[in-house]
Amino acid sequence: MTAIALLPTVAALRAQVRLWRQEGQSVALVPTMGALHAGHISLVEMGKRRADRVVATIFVNPTQFAPTEDFSKYPRTLDADVARLTEISADAAFTPTAEDMYPEGFCTTVSLRGPATAGLEDRFRPTHFQGVATVVAKLLLQALPDVAIFGQKDFQQLAVIRQMTADLDIPVAIEGAPTVREADGLAMSSRNVYLSEEERAVAPLLHRCMTKAAHRIRDGEALEAALSPARGKLAGAGFEIDYLEVRDAMTLATVEGRHRKGLRMLVAARLGRTRLIDNIEV
Ligand code: PAF
Repeated sequence: MTAIALLPTVAALRAQVRLWRQEGQSVALVPTMGALHAGHISLVEMGKRRADRVVATIFVNPTQFAPTEDFSKYPRTLDADVARLTEISADAAFTPTAEDMYPEGFCTTVSLRGPATAGLEDRFRPTHFQGVATVVAKLLLQALPDVAIFGQKDFQQLAVIRQMTADLDIPVAIEGAPTVREADGLAMSSRNVYLSEEERAVAPLLHRCMTKAAHRIRDGEALEAALSPARGKLAGAGFEIDYLEVRDAMTLATVEGRHRKGLRMLVAARLGRTRLIDNIEV
């Protein structure tokens, strides 16, 4: 097994990418916050299909966490992550420090409207997307890959990144990879480790309720009439729902009435201390 290149600084990342470019090779970037699971691995696999070389980035970005959120306890498993990336033959891991990414005097952020203010995650995490967009803009400009791969699990994040990349003319293709699920339907997430045994047993209900509501919408039921029983069932099982909504899949704008094409159902709900998000095509 060939060990992957460990790139701890922006200079090392740029030198490696420059070398590949000189050899005529294309590059895919897979930005992550580490604690890699099968969902991340599927992003790397997609990167391998799209480009000659794949760089995974591992950086727990402090600016996308509110002071009340889980930044300090977010799982950090760097050695295991590097071993996993080596196993699946990724080419490199970019592992900058917070000082590299936000040196003293750093004072620039990306300001967002459009999908970032759709009234979904942004309603509950008002500073989150500014932190995500700023770090992703930095990562894209640092690596300048041909393509960058993000999970569809963070559906609003993907829309924000697509919009930002287009608006700022960053010359990188953005691709979304399908959500990877456990056998019982629970969307894979680094935060699933926070679930207690009892909560883990209840958690798949989220996907089951969404799937059932989506069927009802496809069968012609009005959106609210289909969503309302799902909200009731989830609340009864102990979920505290932040939102469960159907939106336009491209713009994330609100929609009303009955089924039409191009809809996405998105949910965020807390189970105990864990906040789960998920989304499906309707
Ligand atoms: O989706 C994530 O893991 C993060 O939001 C990202 C895109 C790596 C930015 O920190």
